[in-house]
Amino acid sequence: MTPLIELRNIYKFFGGLCATNDVSLTIGKGEVIGLVGDNAAGKSTLMKIIAGVHKPTSGEYLIDGEKFVAHSPRSARNAGIEMVFQIQDMALVPELDVADNLFLGKELYRKTLGLNLNLVLDRRAMQERSRVLLHELGINIPAVTEKVKYLSGGQQQSVSIARTVFFDARLVILDEPTSSISIKETRKVLDLILQLKAKGISSIIVSHRMDDIFTTADRILVLRRGRKIEDVRKEHTSMDDIIKKIINAEKESMSQETLNQPTA
Ligand SMILES: Nc1ncnc2c1ncn2[C@@H]1O[C@H](COP(=O)(O)OP(=O)(O)O)[C@@H](O)[C@H]1O
Ligand SMILES: [Mg+2]
Repeated sequence: MTPLIELRNIYKFFGGLCATNDVSLTIGKGEVIGLVGDNAAGKSTLMKIIAGVHKPTSGEYLIDGEKFVAHSPRSARNAGIEMVFQIQDMALVPELDVADNLFLGKELYRKTLGLNLNLVLDRRAMQERSRVLLHELGINIPAVTEKVKYLSGGQQQSVSIARTVFFDARLVILDEPTSSISIKETRKVLDLILQLKAKGISSIIVSHRMDDIFTTADRILVLRRGRKIEDVRKEHTSMDDIIKKIINAEKESMSQETLNQPTA
């Protein structure tokens, strides 16, 4: 079966720094990928390449087996790839209510008959569809007419994930979605990822917390200094193994560095 996403030998350089080093991977339909690695391992860069934000320096990127050529966030979006950021730099508008935020950029209009044919926002329809969607996803929010700025961090995170469903996402990219929310809310965000999976939506979750990764992921990828050093199904590994991979990898890279030190 053709994977949803396939990367072949992707490199990304920032000046002389190789942030993505010969990474190849596939993401199947409805598959959840857990992406881990130390700070600066290249996780966000890889996510941004997939989301169309960064253009790879070289390598091939295929969606549904077709080359992804017009590399931009917009064309990634058109292909159903949505990125959900951390709360602090999220795409929600705090002054707008939940329903307006869910429909941002995809508003529903109705026609009114006057002297001219006017198009006005169909608030009622948007609110009703928002209620249905949030209910379906099990997201608990007091009212869809509540301004986003009054929601908790976890609720905001849930709204931005729900938003991707409205945008017909096929792959949702979550970069540290639980890094600044409470444990109780983390649970809900993780449940939401599993709900997306049940709808056949793939996701990639980046997290420092092994619990997040092991409750959601089908497959776990470890990055080190831009390189993919592990790609394993969850049932074939353990938290210990993965942590060791991250830590040992670091040791290994330190000894590499020592080896590479010029000798006087
Ligand atoms: N826009 C950029 N310009 C220059 N260097 C960058 C840029 N984005 C990331 N980097 C560098 O690339 C490396 C990988 O960063 P990043 O992908 O953010 O890692 P991670 O998300 O795993 O912490 C780091 O050394 C970082 O400083
Ligand atoms: Mg990062």
